[in-house]
Parts: sequence; C-alpha cells; structure tokens
Amino acid sequence: MNVLITGGAGFIGSHFIHHILGKYENYHVVNVDRLTYASNLSNVAKFEHHPHYTFIKSNIENKDLMNHIVKSYNIDIIVNFAAETHVDRSIHDSSIFVKTNVLGTQTLLNVALENNIRKFIQISTDEVYGALGDHGYFTETTPLSPKNPYSASKASADHLVLAYHSTYGIPVNITRCSNNYGPHQFPEKLIPKLILNTLKEKKLPIYGDGKNVRDWIHVSDHCVAIDLIIHQGKSGEIFNIGSHNERSNLEIAEFIIEKLGKSKDLITYVQDRLGHDHRYAIDAAKITEDLNWKPHITFEKGIEDTIQWYVKNKDWLKGN
Ligand SMILES: NC(=O)c1ccc[n+]([C@@H]2O[C@H](COP(=O)([O-])OP(=O)(O)OC[C@H]3O[C@@H](n4cnc5c(N)ncnc54)[C@H](O)[C@@H]3O)[C@@H](O)[C@H]2O)c1
Repeated sequence: MNVLITGGAGFIGSHFIHHILGKYENYHVVNVDRLTYASNLSNVAKFEHHPHYTFIKSNIENKDLMNHIVKSYNIDIIVNFAAETHVDRSIHDSSIFVKTNVLGTQTLLNVALENNIRKFIQISTDEVYGALGDHGYFTETTPLSPKNPYSASKASADHLVLAYHSTYGIPVNITRCSNNYGPHQFPEKLIPKLILNTLKEKKLPIYGDGKNVRDWIHVSDHCVAIDLIIHQGKSGEIFNIGSHNERSNLEIAEFIIEKLGKSKDLITYVQDRLGHDHRYAIDAAKITEDLNWKPHITFEKGIEDTIQWYVKNKDWLKGN
C-alpha cells in the first residue's frame, strides 16, 4: 500500500508516519509538507533513509505537482493532515486558512478523483460543531456551526469532501477528533506552552476565567483510530474521536504546575480570545461500536510522558 500523508512534518501527521512505518512493513509513505512555521522535519528525521519513506516539500495547492506525486508513487490512500491550525492566527488573518484548508483540500480531492484513489481521509476537527453548553456531546450528526475562521475553513473542507463523495463517488472518510496533546506539538498550543513556561517559571497565560473546557486525547490514540478508519471505515462515513477526558484550561494549568512542583502563582489571566468556544466534548460511541476503538493512554500517564519529552528535547525547540 502506498500512502500519501500531507502535513507529515507537523504534530499529528508526524506521529501518524511513526505509527504506519512502525506497524506495516510493506507500506510506502510519501510525506508532502510545505514546511510552515508549525512544522519540524526532525519529527520524522528517523525515517530520512528509510527505504519505505519519501519526503517532498510541496504546497498541497500545487495541483500539477500533487498529481505528479500521486501518479509517480502509485498512491492508494491520501491522508490529509496539512492545514493551518492555530485559531488565534485565524482570528488575526484568515486568508491562509482558506487557501490551505479549503482550496488545498479541493486540490487534493481533484487529484484523488483523477487518479482513482482507494481512500481519501480528511483529518478534520470537533471544532466544526461549534460550542457546547455545560452538558451534552457532539455526535456525527450534530449540525456544523463553526464559530471562528479556523473551524469555518475546516467545516468548508468537510462539506467539499462529502460533496465529492456524493457527486463523483470518491471513497472518503472524515475524522473529527478532540484536542490532541503529546510530543512534537508546536508551543503556541496550550499544553506545550504551559509545560515550557512552567519549566522556565514564566507566567502561564490563561484566557478569560480559565473555565473553557476541552476534551483531551493523546495523539497516539488518535493515530490508532485513523489507521482503523483507513482500513475498516465504511466509505462516506464520518467518525468522531475523543476520550471523555474533559478538563478546563485552568485545571490543565494546575495539573502541569503540580506535576512540575511549581507555584500556582505562575497562572495569569489574560483577555479572552474573541468568540472563544465554551466547551467541546465528543461522543465517540460510533467508532467504539463500529471499529472497536477505544483510547488506551490515561491523561496522567500521557502528560507525564509529554512533559518528559519536552524536558529531554530542548534542541527540538531550538529548531522552531
Ligand atoms: N492539534 C489538534 O488538537 C487537532 C485536533 C483535531 C484535528 N486536528 C487536525 O489535524 C491536522 C493536523 O493538525 P496538527 O495539530 O498536527 O497541525 P500542525 O500545525 O502541527 O501541522 C500542520 C502541518 O501542515 C503543514 N502544512 C500547512 N500548510 C500546508 C500546505 N499548504 N501544504 C503542505 N503542507 C502544509 C505544516 O507545514 C505542518 O507541518 C489538521 O488538519 C488539524 O485541523 C488537529
């Protein structure tokens, strides 16, 4: 099987490459990444000379090059991780989000169509559903109601993926996962930022009152779910992925401070993000029942390992 992984020098895509090459001896991975500020090639440096791995620096919007890559490597499956991913940046300027997340996905869909791809997997997000109150969960049939330019661009891409499935019959799946954490995450995101600031005893900026809730999942559990969806997910289906690990931003900050034995005085409240979604929580019953998936990494163990990774990989940060 030949798998095109886009955005494989970023956080989740790089873990997925480790997962696939670690598990399947006869799969070839082609990693296409534009190498934006959020990427770090050292995430996949281990595979530089691997016989079943190829890295190509490219923008997914480059249709001719993407077509050439898919043909030359006889690609069977496309897994599209490539995206602009930081909500704050999208609030500041959404242009690149529309280009990469919407037009980039459309380009890849056209390439998939022209080359009779066996499966197109769109890595989407629970943020397309908008925000929840204090109760309830997002299911796959929750109406899309994105509330910021990042989630709107991801929701637009989801609509295109489903439309290409209905119109042209492209075999597709969409994954909508909750917030990931783990090694390799660029430190503009909450958990690595909190870990690194706590280690340096710098202030931990917490938006608003810190009560916004996210449902956290370890990136490795997410990768196992994507693997199952590629191989067993019925075409046209959407799968929510989450691990019922809801925590407020303040709880996360306090948890990390406690693990590192520092003072809670490091916490500092900053002006809330515009349109900040109150709560996300995933109902993952479908993937559990249909594909027998469940998360295996507890938050306590996952955070412990993640902290240790950032402590041991100071050189990785210099690369960012
Ligand atoms: N991080 C999360 O918590 C989370 C949760 C659910 C879904 N997702 C989705 O998972 C995917 C990966 O997220 P991540 O956190 O690993 O992101 P990331 O920002 O760490 O990595 C994105 C990667 O995409 C690459 N890229 C950006 N634009 C590109 C382009 N035009 N062409 C080629 N490559 C390009 C970047 O260089 C980077 O390596 C995204 O689609 C995101 O929406 C993320």
